[in-house]
Amino acid sequence: MTDAARDVTLCEVGLRDGLQLVAQFFPTAEKLAWIAAEAAAGVPEFEVTSFVPPKLVPQFVDAEEVVRGALALPGIEVAALIPNLKGAERGFALGVPKLDFVMSVSRTHNLKNVRREREESLADFRRIVQARDALPAGRRPKLIGGLSTALGCSYEGRVAVDEVRRYAAELAAAGADELTVADTVGYGDPAQVRAVFKAVLAEAGALPVGAHFHDTRGTGLANVAAALECGVRRFDASLAGLGGCPFAPGATGNIVMDDLAFMLDSMGLRTGVDLEKLLAVRAILERNLAGAELHGTLARAGLPTNYVPARLRAAA
Ligand code: COA
Ligand code: ZN
Repeated sequence: MTDAARDVTLCEVGLRDGLQLVAQFFPTAEKLAWIAAEAAAGVPEFEVTSFVPPKLVPQFVDAEEVVRGALALPGIEVAALIPNLKGAERGFALGVPKLDFVMSVSRTHNLKNVRREREESLADFRRIVQARDALPAGRRPKLIGGLSTALGCSYEGRVAVDEVRRYAAELAAAGADELTVADTVGYGDPAQVRAVFKAVLAEAGALPVGAHFHDTRGTGLANVAAALECGVRRFDASLAGLGGCPFAPGATGNIVMDDLAFMLDSMGLRTGVDLEKLLAVRAILERNLAGAELHGTLARAGLPTNYVPARLRAAA
């Protein structure tokens, strides 16, 4: 499905956000099998890995190999997480088309996660934009400005909307091509989502703004509905709800990709995803994550009787 034919763009982040919490190594070939199968089910974007020091997160020791394999798959957008300039340089060397820079709105989480003040993270992002702009045309990736802990922080509690607005404005002014607002620890509720996204969208101007929610306290899909009402059309999620930040105590999985794809489709929004094919991809997680908890209500309950996918309703 082309971008124009999609109402909402979904990005699978389980290979990064999910696997970073999994101590057991998920074999490289199986990571690539997961991406290929989910791409065949119609998911258009994947955050495939994280360019962090492998000493810190050994799961990503194969980052380069995973990126090369994913880039060889046709028809998907490949992204990778970067916490600093060194991570960006690893991405540039491989020709990754999209790099997701992360900083946290809460000072304490930024210090714990990337060991620097927020202003230092911003300075790093400006250096990354400069380095990107110095690359030859055709090799310049899109740079996404990610705001973690934008709806709450497990060290500091509530995060002020004005702080989120301020760092969104700074990232936009520094040259971000898109922004992502993340509820890293699942504190957000729909009323708060409306307030935060309205503030960020006002700063973002023409830049697309995506949402990254965790379902730690059961508000994940309600938060998606609130963000949709604000006009957000890009969502991160992970298959079977794998996920969480290793540097945020109590963090759990992302919203469940399968449940999100169903909710959007049921609302008549086209995502390009074939729900039955998507559910079948869970088998790849089951065979590689023995004992891990896989989430998902669609997988448990199945599609409604006589369910007609949005793409067929749209054509009728
Ligand atoms: N990829 C690989 N190696 C990296 C790197 C990167 N992105 N960034 C730094 N390094 C290496 C340095 O080259 C240096 O290596 P050396 O000891 O062999 O000289 C070493 O790591 C320390 O570098 P330094 O710049 O001092 O980094 P740091 O120790 O202050 O760590 C971060 C800073 C940002 C790299 C680290 O805190 C980090 O990766 N945080 C992200 C954690 C995460 O994955 N969070 C969850 C996702 S949001
Ligand atoms: Zn996350």
